[in-house]
Amino acid sequence: MRRFVIVGSAASSSPNFLLQDIPSTSGRLDVLVRALRAALLVSHGVRRDARVYLVLQGDPDAVVTLRVDGAAAKYLRPDERSLATLIKKTLALAASQATSSFAVLKPGVAAARGGIEVVLPELGGSALCLLEETGADLRGHAFVGDDLTFFAGDHTGLPAPLRALLIARGASVLSVGPQSLHTEDALAVVHNELDRRAGDARRCDA
Ligand SMILES: C[S@@+](CC[C@H](N)C(=O)[O-])C[C@H]1O[C@@H](n2cnc3c(N)ncnc32)[C@H](O)[C@@H]1O
Repeated sequence: MRRFVIVGSAASSSPNFLLQDIPSTSGRLDVLVRALRAALLVSHGVRRDARVYLVLQGDPDAVVTLRVDGAAAKYLRPDERSLATLIKKTLALAASQATSSFAVLKPGVAAARGGIEVVLPELGGSALCLLEETGADLRGHAFVGDDLTFFAGDHTGLPAPLRALLIARGASVLSVGPQSLHTEDALAVVHNELDRRAGDARRCDA
């Protein structure tokens, strides 16, 4: 299982953003939408062993986390507008139905009220990896097992308190290369590295 936790420090949990202007009406939810695509989708398929958490914490009084499960998600299309529409509809349902534990609101898509505190109990013994430009080179990292959780920030990076919390929990700080990349590109490099290590044994279902 590869899990990706994307923290949207500015992203709003309101469904009232405009699909024709996502960046300036949602707190840069567009960054998370593209990260979702990179973490979950391949050409003509879904990574069935990937799970993505989008932490929408732009409004401190209404923090919501969405969980999208590659094993169960249906009708996912790769374009930004379709994925944003799925998020918009899920957030509309979450406004009345979400609780402090994850509830499935669409096939493979769940929501919970709360941020990282609702994600951490789901991770079990997964190896925690924090993606950061100045971390150790991902290429030289020896992963233990194949239950891995990667944390990435939005355009503002990972919040310092979360970074400290993860390091206190033993997270490895990993870099995918010398350049500061867009979040979705950093995730694509992670998948690429793990795909290469896994060789031809892995296939993605359409
Ligand atoms: C656009 S970067 C954040 C920019 C910059 N760190 C800041 O705080 O303004 C978004 C996220 O992508 C990930 N990222 C970007 N470049 C990376 C790299 N070279 N190695 C690992 N992660 C990277 C990190 O998780 C980062 O928080």
